[in-house]
Order: sequence, then structure tokens, then C-alpha cells
Amino acid sequence: MHPRLIDRFNRLTRHRQEHIERVVAVMEKLAEAHHLDREAARLAGYGHDLARELARSELLAEAERLGISYGPEERAEPLLLHGPVAARWLKDLSLGNPDVWQAIQYHTTAAPGLSPLAKALFVADGVEPGRRYNGRDVLERLAYENLEKAYAAVLQSTLQYLDARHLPWHPLTQGALAELNGTAYAPE
Ligand SMILES: [Fe+2]
Ligand SMILES: [Fe+2]
Repeated sequence: MHPRLIDRFNRLTRHRQEHIERVVAVMEKLAEAHHLDREAARLAGYGHDLARELARSELLAEAERLGISYGPEERAEPLLLHGPVAARWLKDLSLGNPDVWQAIQYHTTAAPGLSPLAKALFVADGVEPGRRYNGRDVLERLAYENLEKAYAAVLQSTLQYLDARHLPWHPLTQGALAELNGTAYAPE
């Protein structure tokens, strides 16, 4: 692992580090089950939340610095930028490959057209054993059997979570859902 990433990891709270380690462990098993590149899977898991503990103002500043464009959703909730920012950190260090960066970039919102690795990360983040909700273990087992079904299920539970809190659906999440439902979706 690159020293800059290890440094980022070491600055996270123990709580976050443990979550990341569990996501890496699930990613390894998903890679095995679905014939994904093991190192790419590990790196996506390791990198996905490295920017998660930046303050909202820091995330906005970092996105500006890196030239990451974002919309009103990110302006309203800058935490949505933690994936895109972390993806750029790895890309700028030439760590991983476009699949890894895509996976990290979209691990919070999902998006249409995700690679299997990106779907795996979205699922792993949602089903890792530290998450506490009814049916988590069933969903984790499903993930090893059928990644597409698990992806659809985690996306549905994400939408339910947002609705329960009266939070808006990100256009990328709407796009991901539309893709699953086989309906065209064009933002705006
Ligand atoms: Fe995250
Ligand atoms: Fe996470």
C-alpha cells in the first residue's frame, strides 16, 4: 500500500478503520466468488472511505482543489464528495485502475453503468458485518451467490433509508434505479 494512503488510513478513527477492514474482507470474498481482480477489490475497499472523516468544508475545498465538479446535491451535503475525493487521491497516485476509481467514486450514490467491481464495493459497504439491520446476514450471503441481485437489494435499502429520513435521491442513484428497472433516465 502507498505510504500516502497508509498515512490517510492511520489518521482515521479506529471505528472507521475497522469498518474499512471489514469492507476489505467482504471484498476479498466477493472477488473470490465472482472472479474479480483480488488486488483491485482490496484496494477499492481500502480506499473507499479514506476521505470520510474530512469536515464538510474540507471536502468542498478538496473538491475545488482537485477540480472535481459537483452539483447542488453535493453543495447541500458535502459528505457526498468523500467518494469522488478519495477516488482522485488514488488516481493521482496512479494507484489501481479505472475500475477501482469508479468503484470508490460511486460507492455512496451508486450510478448507472457500474462495473462488477463497483457493484461489489457498493454491496460490501452495505452488508459488512458491522452494519446492524434485520436481514444483513441474508443479504451478505446473497452477495456471494448473486452480485446483481444483492446490488439491487442494497440499492433498494439505500432508497428506503433516504425516504425514512426524508432525504432526496441523488440523480446518480435515480439513474442506477432506472437502469435496474430498464427505464431510460436522463438527469435534468
Ligand atoms: Fe463511504
Ligand atoms: Fe464505507
